[in-house]
Parts: sequence; C-alpha cells; structure tokens
Amino acid sequence: MTSSAARDHLIVALDMPTVEEARRLVAELGDTVSFYKVGLELLFAGGLDLARDLKRQNKNVFLDMKLLDIGNTVERAVANATELGINFLTVHGHDLKTLRAAVSGRTGSKLKLLAVTVMTNLTADDIRQQGSSLAPADLALRRAELAYAAGFDGVIASGQEAARIREATSPKFLIVTPGIRLQGSTTDDQERVMTPDNAISAGANHIVVGRPITQADAPKAAAEKFITCIDEALAAHGSGSPTSH
Ligand code: C5P
Repeated sequence: MTSSAARDHLIVALDMPTVEEARRLVAELGDTVSFYKVGLELLFAGGLDLARDLKRQNKNVFLDMKLLDIGNTVERAVANATELGINFLTVHGHDLKTLRAAVSGRTGSKLKLLAVTVMTNLTADDIRQQGSSLAPADLALRRAELAYAAGFDGVIASGQEAARIREATSPKFLIVTPGIRLQGSTTDDQERVMTPDNAISAGANHIVVGRPITQADAPKAAAEKFITCIDEALAAHGSGSPTSH
C-alpha cells in the first residue's frame, strides 16, 4: 500500500488531442491521481474549461502555458490567469525583468509561479545552437537563481539538475521535474531524463509524467508504479514536501 503523501508528488500531464479523451483518462485514474497538468496541446481544444472542471473535482491543476513575452504582457496574462483558481502556472525563466513582472501580476493570489529553466528535451548541442556555451545544467541553475531572486515559488527542471538547484535556493523552493521515465523504458523525445525515485531523492517536490501513463495499456496500473517508486524514495531518503495548496 502506498502512502497518500506519495500520490501528491505525482503530476500527470494530460497531453491528449481532445478534452473528451482527457476526461475519460481522469475518470479512469480516479483517486489514484490528485494533480494534473494541462498544457499547450489542450489549450486550443477546451483546455481552460477542463482546468476549471478539474478544480471543481478537487484536483490540483498545473497550467503549463510557458509564458514568454515582454514584462507588461506577461504581468497582465498572469493577472488574468489568477481568475482560473489553478495551482501552478509556468513562465519561461529567461530574464529577471519578465520574471519580476509575472510576480507582480499574481499579487494577492495563491497561484504559484514556476519558471521553466531548460527544456528537458534539449541537449548541450541544442543550447550551443542558441549561442550559449553553458552546459544545460549550468544554464538551468542560472535561470533557477533568477527565478528565486524574482520571488518565484519554484522551477521546472530536469531531475539531473534538482540537487544543485536545491542547494542554491531554499528548502521551500519548489522543484518540479518532467523527463521522468522508469528504469529501462523508452525516453521518447526526452533527453535529460531521470527515474522517479532518483528525482525525488535528488530533492524534487513533484514529478511530471505524461506518455508513460497517458499512452500505457493500463494507465491506472502505470500511475501506481510511479507512485510506488516515489514512496520507496520517500521512505529511503525523505524529500521536499509536496506543495500545500
Ligand atoms: O510525455 P512526457 O512524460 O515526456 O511529458 C512531459 C511533459 O512535461 C510534457 O507535457 C512537456 O510539455 C512538459 N515539459 C517538459 N520539459 C520541460 C517543461 C515541461 O517535458 N522543461
């Protein structure tokens, strides 16, 4: 039997073509999953209505919009997003000015802001093409430091970068890690991957899992497997707590 604490660390990414399919999956997963991520794929297919519905079902909702624009636009977008009553919203963590504008946009709301550091599907070569000579882990750390300085609640980062980010920030700073795969399973297009137990042991508060659950033959059993791994890591090492909402 896994603990309910372990369940709170799992966020399932609803990357699906239609909200109908997403709703069916949520119903099938039932009480096994308490936290969902709605991202760009569903945004243009009813994703915001789905986010509101999930909140009505007492689920936690992470709206993964990865905002990137001038500060004024990001500030106003965040201010409007606070009306949705969601738990997490992402902003690209590229510069301090925009991050500060985002923080100003959520004034007075409980919405938690997470900065995207370096996408987990990018390699050192991809970063070099953008003109940066930093290793992905160093760039991720730099951006995490900017987000921390701006007053963000946390970051999205690979599990491979979690320990250094934890050390450079604070125990309360949230580290949410996508690019999670069970030992020996396919990585799809992800590059900087980690197992759920290693990510939690490295200090991640939440892991984000999409295709290994959404495309599994038995999604509920797949979700349970991830929760078991989290539970084992918590028992062995402890970790940052899941967010209190
Ligand atoms: O299917 P998979 O588990 O690879 O999905 C990972 C999810 O995390 C996707 O929804 C993707 O958009 C998101 N994500 C990511 N890397 C980041 C930020 C978000 O993979 N740095």
